[in-house]
Amino acid sequence: MLQKLNKTINYFKKINLPVPKAGIVLGTGLGGLIDDIDVSHAIPYDLIPNFPVSTVQGHAGKLIFGYIGDIPIVAMQGRFHYYEGYSMQEVTYPIRLMKLLGIEALLISNASGGMNKKFSIGDLMIIKDHINLQPDNPLRGENIEDFGPRFPDMSQPYDLELVKKAEKIAKKNKIKIHKGVYASVSGPNFESPAEYKFLSIIGADAVGMSTVPEVIVARHMGLPVFAISVITDLGIDGKIVEVSHEEVERAAMKAEPKLTTIMKQLIKNL
Ligand code: HPA
Repeated sequence: MLQKLNKTINYFKKINLPVPKAGIVLGTGLGGLIDDIDVSHAIPYDLIPNFPVSTVQGHAGKLIFGYIGDIPIVAMQGRFHYYEGYSMQEVTYPIRLMKLLGIEALLISNASGGMNKKFSIGDLMIIKDHINLQPDNPLRGENIEDFGPRFPDMSQPYDLELVKKAEKIAKKNKIKIHKGVYASVSGPNFESPAEYKFLSIIGADAVGMSTVPEVIVARHMGLPVFAISVITDLGIDGKIVEVSHEEVERAAMKAEPKLTTIMKQLIKNL
């Protein structure tokens, strides 16, 4: 893994890049943030040595370098999901890379189904904790001591200061915001009604198919993390309807301006 990463890093050393302060995973509902980035470099994933290769045609993905305000950032336009067939090492490879490139915080967005009765479609939920139900762990196998300990602490996966700052920003901009627990499943199917009920009983407010592997790897390396979910559908008894990827995307798109406002201001306040 280290050898692979060194080869990737050597590629970046040849390019004169601003050292990024923040790493951003432009998940569902955050694609529009790209318009607020003063882009200096946009590097297609398939040009980056040892980077996972996209399986979906026309969804090549890019690593974006640039500035939001005065803050140098690196952003993933396109992320890797376990359900696409990538290993957990591949899913989280870009996070390790961004850390080695110098980021001091990781910001993530995703789409999720809401189980909390107070949630409506289009709401935002700051992730305050998570339940990992993914079938594999990115840290399985030999531990790389250079990154972090064999048994990393997970008592506070999401940075309290960043959560506080985001809540303040939401309030100032009159954006309704929840805080809750995110359950991470492998997908690719959405949940059955009994599964939504189960997830709610075990303490989750929302469920999605990403984020937690990235958070585990980031925390292993000691990176502060902030993550936010767009509630795109509801897994609440009596409100469960047929759901499709298109509906998830549509709901996320509607919430995008709110999410973009929060992330943009959070980055400027890092
Ligand atoms: N379940 C899992 N993943 C999701 C959902 C959901 O209901 N909505 C968006 N991503």
